[in-house]
Amino acid sequence: MAGQTWLVLGASSALGRAFARRAAREGAQLLLAGRDTADLADMAADLRTRFNAEAEVLAFDAVSPAGHDALALRLGAVREPNILLAFAVMPLQAALERRPEQAAAVIGTNLAGAASVMLRLLPVLEEKPGARVVVIGSVAGDRGRPRNYVYGASKAGLHALVSGYRGRLHRAGVSVTLVKAGPFDSGMTFARTDLRGIATTEAVADSCWRAAQRRRNVIYSPTRWRWIMAAVRAIPEPLFKRLDL
Ligand SMILES: NC(=O)c1ccc[n+]([C@@H]2O[C@H](COP(=O)([O-])OP(=O)(O)OC[C@H]3O[C@@H](n4cnc5c(N)ncnc54)[C@H](OP(=O)(O)O)[C@@H]3O)[C@@H](O)[C@H]2O)c1
Repeated sequence: MAGQTWLVLGASSALGRAFARRAAREGAQLLLAGRDTADLADMAADLRTRFNAEAEVLAFDAVSPAGHDALALRLGAVREPNILLAFAVMPLQAALERRPEQAAAVIGTNLAGAASVMLRLLPVLEEKPGARVVVIGSVAGDRGRPRNYVYGASKAGLHALVSGYRGRLHRAGVSVTLVKAGPFDSGMTFARTDLRGIATTEAVADSCWRAAQRRRNVIYSPTRWRWIMAAVRAIPEPLFKRLDL
């Protein structure tokens, strides 16, 4: 594990930070990619101090594909690269219904942005057998709900993207793990007073780390969401459309 290098896309996210600390504790090197490079420089300094980790900052905006080439170039120079994709936006559904033009930004960041950077990194990964990719999906992508259906649609699309990407990279010896996360404690859920029993970010980061090391295909985190979503998916549509979910 000491030889692993992790490129964290969306490193300033709550999950990206927790995952970076987890990886640094294991002796991994970090490439912290995000929009606020000053903030990420502080994060890199913290990782160096706490864990004696090597940490470098890279500028990354999911909706600026022109910048994705530089990431590919940097990753190509890494011996054992691994990637965590942990960026997304999730405005409240009611806000999107008031301003429908913002729906395109949700899909643009969470799905089109992910597709852009993943495709840009594909040729690099093909040359790096043993690499691991972890993408953070969501239980919201398993079935569209009235309270969150634009974000859910972006994640459903992401899940399909990841499935194809996994098959595409399988022969190259690269594992691609989809983590379907349930709600956890972050800025994204800060205003969501309707959520009960949400997980800690550290617990989800830990399951991402373990799933990556085991090269799992798809996991739910926390695990109980596998059974919850199996039940939700089984609800017949005539009933589902009547539920205020
Ligand atoms: N929190 C939950 O309950 C939950 C549940 C299921 C799945 N997830 C998923 O888990 C992942 C991490 O979530 P989180 O709650 O930890 O996130 P978060 O703390 O809300 O942070 C969101 C991150 O996305 C980044 N981002 C937004 N737009 C971007 C863009 N155009 N380019 C690059 N980065 C951009 C933000 O960067 P800036 O700092 O520059 O704004 C920030 O780092 C996401 O994929 C999310 O969908 C979260």
